[in-house]
Amino acid sequence: MENLISLVNNIQRACTALGDHGEESALPTLWDSLPAIAVVGGQSSGKSSVLESIVGKDFLPRGSGIVTRRPLVLQLHKIDEGREYAEFMHLPKKKFTDFAQVRKEIEDETDRETGRTKQISSVPIHLSIFSPNVVNLTLVDLPGLTKVAVEGQPESIVTDIENMVRAYIEKPNCIILAISPANQDLATSDAIKISREVDPKGERTFGVLTKIDLMDKGTNAVDMLEGKSYKLQFPWIGVVNRSQADINKNVDMIAARHREREYFANTSEYKHLANRMGSEHLAKMMSKSSVKVSLQHLEQVIKSRIPGIQSLISKTITELEMELSRLGKPIAADTGGKLYAIMEICRVFDQNYKEHLDGMRPGGEKI
Ligand code: GDP
Ligand code: NA
Ligand code: MG
Repeated sequence: MENLISLVNNIQRACTALGDHGEESALPTLWDSLPAIAVVGGQSSGKSSVLESIVGKDFLPRGSGIVTRRPLVLQLHKIDEGREYAEFMHLPKKKFTDFAQVRKEIEDETDRETGRTKQISSVPIHLSIFSPNVVNLTLVDLPGLTKVAVEGQPESIVTDIENMVRAYIEKPNCIILAISPANQDLATSDAIKISREVDPKGERTFGVLTKIDLMDKGTNAVDMLEGKSYKLQFPWIGVVNRSQADINKNVDMIAARHREREYFANTSEYKHLANRMGSEHLAKMMSKSSVKVSLQHLEQVIKSRIPGIQSLISKTITELEMELSRLGKPIAADTGGKLYAIMEICRVFDQNYKEHLDGMRPGGEKI
């Protein structure tokens, strides 16, 4: 992922030096192609809990009922060293080091937009976490899909939420975590329904089964986890998040992960699946597949932009030649800059693009 970001950065620098900004710039699309992982599913299916455990930090509001009422776009930034901290886009000067305060600010900022109601707003909250212990990723927490409006909500809420969710997950560089609770029938899963709509072949959808610990006695999730109930391209991943009682008792992330690991390893039905279950496995899958999904997409975007960049280069070369043909005159200062930019672009494409991308391809070494 670091390679990918430095590649995008290099192309950005070279294009800017060539005077490529504004409408036709290659850059917005390049930036858009960095991956995002979004959680979708019904209300209280465990979306916020799953995101938290991917990040490995306690910082999101969770609970029964409608808790997540605005999209939260969370950018994880890996830093080399130092203490981890968080920053909100709406509070640019404030560094949060206490993650309980981060959760409180998410709640307060949600209320600022919607009041203390059951209303939903599509205006996202942007949060960045800087830490030596994360990989560069963007994660999106979303309000849960519902079937009916409740008291205090407009009738349009069902489709409003659907449209909000769709706007995030229809982007080709969005990895979808389709969250379904194991104690409900998969045939009724809102997560499966909406992700199939935007990703019919399941190329970027991961099925996550939550609440395995809450299934009725005498039933188990083996058929679901083995893809026999609903087949997806990628294997289903089962998790056991913290229960409401755990949240009330402040059970921490490390204890919860430990217990989850034990649960899969020591439950006879799930033993044979244990190595591909749980939050840690899910986090690993996410960082791997986000590199893959975004590389495929980035490669396409870069390829489609090469003709534009080439014409930018030849336009600059023409200008240079005209300049040179005015014999006797010294070369203008910005001509030197442009010449340098062309060399820079050639270098970026020759080295970074080919080598880095080849190296990062599945089977390559740099993943
Ligand atoms: P969201 O509404 O989809 O974001 O769901 P939350 O993450 O807020 O979780 C809703 C409720 O379900 C909370 O009370 C969680 O403690 C509980 N919960 C989520 N996942 C699990 C799980 O795997 N097992 C148990 N026992 N409870 C869970
Ligand atoms: Na909830
Ligand atoms: Mg939530």
